[in-house]
Amino acid sequence: MQDKKFSQRLRSVISHISALPTLPVVASRVMELLHNPQTPVQKIADVICSDQSLTTAVLKLVNSSYYGFPRQISTVKHALVILGFNEIRNITFTISVLRSFPPTKNSPSFNYRDFWKHSLGCAVAARMLAKFFRYRVSGKVFVAALVHDIGKILLSQYARDLFEKVMQEVSSRNISFYQAEKNVLGVTHAEIGGWLAHQWNFPQEIEEVIKFHHFPSEARINPPLCAVVHLSDVLVRMRAVGWSGDGEVFYPHPGVWRILQSLRPDLDSSHLDYFNALLEEEIERAKPLFNIIG
Ligand SMILES: [Fe+2]
Ligand SMILES: [Fe+2]
Repeated sequence: MQDKKFSQRLRSVISHISALPTLPVVASRVMELLHNPQTPVQKIADVICSDQSLTTAVLKLVNSSYYGFPRQISTVKHALVILGFNEIRNITFTISVLRSFPPTKNSPSFNYRDFWKHSLGCAVAARMLAKFFRYRVSGKVFVAALVHDIGKILLSQYARDLFEKVMQEVSSRNISFYQAEKNVLGVTHAEIGGWLAHQWNFPQEIEEVIKFHHFPSEARINPPLCAVVHLSDVLVRMRAVGWSGDGEVFYPHPGVWRILQSLRPDLDSSHLDYFNALLEEEIERAKPLFNIIG
């Protein structure tokens, strides 16, 4: 629970953050549209088309083998009609977030390209699981999974001194990034990312996923969303898709199965192997999506 000491520690870490990164305008408007899936197609197309290079990147992906359309899709509006609001919003959000935290800015101890592979792998896994669970808000799932570890980016780019201390702790003690953060900072990327999500006015459900993706049983607003992202995190670690600061492979939090049984009563831990096999195919299919990272 967030006691007084915890708040002090969080404040102290935040005071080390050199500047608050800004979310690109397009990404934040796309995030706003998450609240309202009824937004007219033309309005969404206008938001995307206000950024020419983003439009080019979106159309390139839409025309890639990932979607495999026989005919060229040449406008965003056409793409929206063919692929739907959710898919285009996910693509747009992904491209614009990755651009604001470019993978080329490597620190000696942190590989951004691999970090984004982990995050995008998680988003792909989360969408796959959402389909399996017939979970209705699959658009939110993708976005929430993509940004679940955003606190690590905030630390690594805007509080580099603290971040390097955490990385040293990871390598010298051979422990998880999460445990190293606890030891060194007393708070973790989950709470730091949750704070950032709040500053960026993300929907509360997504802020909650960021805060509790390691402990989905703590979620109160939308536990299934949090549980899906948690399970995706576990799966991409098992498959070693990318890297998020440590090589730790962990098993799903025990509470996760109970939460997800509300979506699929027959679910239990024996499904892990099945999800693993599904994910292998999904990652292979999503290669053009991973090309966004470069
Ligand atoms: Fe995490
Ligand atoms: Fe993660």
